[in-house]
Amino acid sequence: MKILKFALSCVLTVGLLAACGTSEENKEKQGTGGEAPQEKVTLVMGTSADYPPYEFIDTAVSDDIIGFDVDIAMYIAEKLGFELKIQDMDFNGLIPALQNNRVDFVLAGMTPRPDRLENADFSDIYYVAEQMIVFKADSGINSLEDLAGKKLGVQLGSIQVDLAKEIAEEFEGVQIEERNKITDLVQELKANRIDAAIIEDKVAEGHLNANADLAAFIIEEEGEVGSAIAFPKGSELRDQFNEVLREMVENGEMEKLIIKWFRQG
Ligand code: ARG
Repeated sequence: MKILKFALSCVLTVGLLAACGTSEENKEKQGTGGEAPQEKVTLVMGTSADYPPYEFIDTAVSDDIIGFDVDIAMYIAEKLGFELKIQDMDFNGLIPALQNNRVDFVLAGMTPRPDRLENADFSDIYYVAEQMIVFKADSGINSLEDLAGKKLGVQLGSIQVDLAKEIAEEFEGVQIEERNKITDLVQELKANRIDAAIIEDKVAEGHLNANADLAAFIIEEEGEVGSAIAFPKGSELRDQFNEVLREMVENGEMEKLIIKWFRQG
């Protein structure tokens, strides 16, 4: 099946990106305001906090956005001597926010898809995932073919939309339903307003653990899709972030965070 070419090409293209850019203008962001003069420049991270364990709010604990991506951002900001501020928005608004310089970088489990590479620069891949089809356990869905004539949900603006389109080309009558948030997709599934949804493995696993009425399978042919950090075109931050990412892999910090967020039972 060809479902997969785009995923592979994403990963490949990333390695080919030319380093560019000199502008530092984004660093002139104001701090939280009001307090004593602070030396550190604040970097604004854009994210879509609907994506545990990458980024989410554990409302039982606090209103803070936490997760794998947040820990990576905090580590890098600390290393490079920046303050970090996190701005939550719909996933679909993240690239536009970068383009308007409303955020300095985006860390949101985002895949460096070719069209995104035209509008943003990406770091090296820091984590790879596979795609899953999630559905009600009693729906009788067992394979991609079973999606024929069914409503297939995906997050608006995500790579899963492309994948859904490929599935719809292959199997008759697949209707694609786009929603702003992954949590909306899960609710729609549970309420039988959609029949299935495409969600990345680690994110899907969390919902499967929390909802006994849901089941899922991996789209085998899909292959792995990587997440990377996005920057405004030409941002000097990209190279600085890459350096710390490499350091995190070498010093074991990345593995520590992977165990903390992805392997904790
Ligand atoms: N990896 C997928 C993409 O780049 C989905 C990412 C969704 N992230 C989120 N924070 N909701 O399109």
